[in-house]
Parts: sequence; C-alpha cells; structure tokens
Amino acid sequence: MTSNPIRTAIVTGASKGIGAAIARRLARDGFAVVVNYARGRAEAEAVVGTIEAEGGKAIAVQADIADPTGIATLFDAGERVFGGVDILVNNAGIMKLSPIAQTDDASFDAQITVNLGGVFRGMREGAKRLRDGGRIVNFSSSVVGLYQPGYGVYAATKAAVEAMTHILAKELGARRITVNAVAPGPVETALFMDGKSAAQIEATAKMIPLGRLGQPDDIAGVVSFLAGPDSGWVNGQIIRANGGVI
Ligand SMILES: NC(=O)c1ccc[n+]([C@@H]2O[C@H](COP(=O)([O-])OP(=O)(O)OC[C@H]3O[C@@H](n4cnc5c(N)ncnc54)[C@H](OP(=O)(O)O)[C@@H]3O)[C@@H](O)[C@H]2O)c1
Repeated sequence: MTSNPIRTAIVTGASKGIGAAIARRLARDGFAVVVNYARGRAEAEAVVGTIEAEGGKAIAVQADIADPTGIATLFDAGERVFGGVDILVNNAGIMKLSPIAQTDDASFDAQITVNLGGVFRGMREGAKRLRDGGRIVNFSSSVVGLYQPGYGVYAATKAAVEAMTHILAKELGARRITVNAVAPGPVETALFMDGKSAAQIEATAKMIPLGRLGQPDDIAGVVSFLAGPDSGWVNGQIIRANGGVI
C-alpha cells in the first residue's frame, strides 16, 4: 500500500504580515509549509515555531525572490524535505510610494524586480515543478483599480501580475494546475502602515464600506480557499478582498 504524499505549500515573504498569516493558515489546513523570508530570519523561525506548536510541519528558508535563483532554492527545499510541492503562494512584495514625477530609477527597478520579476520567476518555476493538480496564488492589490496618486509604479507591477495570472491559467490547465490572484485592499501590516500618519490611516479606514482595515487573516482565508478543495474549478480569477472599497 502506498501512502499519500505530504501536501506542501511554499509561501514567499512569510516572515511577517499577510504571508505569515497565510503560512499559519495553510499549516492548519494540513499543508507542510516552506516559510520563506528575505531578511527576517527570527520572525520566520517564530512562524515555524507557532506552526509546530499547533502540530503542523514547516521549515524556514532564506531566499531573495529578486535573486534569479531565489525561487529555485524554495522548490529545492520543498522537494528535499517534504518530497514535492503542490501550492505556490507568490505573496512577497514591496511598496514605494511617490508621484511619478518624483520616482527615481532605483525605486522603479526595485519594485519591478521584486513584485513583477519575483512573481514571474515564481510562476515559471511553479509551471515546471508543481505537482499535477497544484495551485498558484499570486498577489495583486486593489490599488490596480483605484488609480490613487503616488501608487503609479506599485500599481503597474500588480496590473502586470494580473495579466500574467490570466495567461498562465490558460497555459497550465492541461496539468490541472489553477492560477489565481488575490488583490487585497488596505491591510494592517508594515507595508501599509509604515510612513502613514494616524489621520491618513483613519481616512483610509473610513473609505471602506465595512468600516475597518483588513487584517492578515482576512486575506489568509481567501488563500486557504484558493489552495483548498472547494476552489477546484476557480481558475484565472482575481479575487478582490477589500471590504468593498472598489
Ligand atoms: N498590506 C496591504 O495593505 C496590501 C494591500 C494589497 C496588496 N498587498 C500585497 O500583499 C503582499 C504581502 O504584503 P504585506 O502587507 O504582508 O507586506 P509586509 O508586511 O511588508 O511583508 C512583506 C513580506 O515580503 C517579504 N519580502 C520582501 N521582499 C522580499 C524579497 N525580495 N524576497 C523574499 N521576500 C521578500 C518580507 O520578508 P523579510 O521581512 O524577511 O525581508 C516580508 O515577509 C505583497 O505582495 C503586497 O504588495 C498588501
């Protein structure tokens, strides 16, 4: 009798924020999780500790998704330790806000390299190395539809991720791999909060019909659905989890 293989998920940028919540949630759903971090080793190890304390399986793996070999490092670890990879969550991202007239090349290049390049390399590696029936969940943002001043380059990287999500979904259908994206609204993490005044944060919360900022677990629940058995026929979709802001 052969036993079922361990189902494994890679979550990029899982040392904090939304990625950490996704890693904890997928572990509770029964996945072994590769918890990726770039700089936050202690935080990633704490996420692994929480998962193990709840009876789950996880490892922390350092890799910079801006590095051409970063994603391959994560697949290597998932295959070596857990025997294969089923789910890839391309969550890691950065945001640098400035009006287009004041945006320098370094800011443009950094956001393109991480948000677009990292997700592109993740999708390319996932297309080759995920097991049949696997899932790719990309990260966009609801700012793609809001056209707010200051978000020009960041929103452009996310719009490009949405375009590739639709296309890869069609390319991978034959292997029963679904490709979807989540486009959160404002979520209370360092990425959103850093550099904003209390007044700006309050004004943003008031724009949201549900009257509050999102929490990382609000987004982790959507990823759980897209990684789980109930979304088997959901493919090539962008799910805007944003309290109704757009
Ligand atoms: N928060 C929001 O309001 C919001 C809204 C819409 C979309 N999003 C998207 O949701 C995703 C998660 O955002 P968040 O709010 O959770 O951000 P966050 O709290 O700033 O966390 C970002 C995570 O990404 C990792 N990361 C950054 N650059 C990396 C790189 N080059 N290689 C590997 N990992 C890297 C960080 O790792 P280290 O700390 O280890 O460096 C960290 O774990 C992003 O794609 C973001 O664009 C967020």
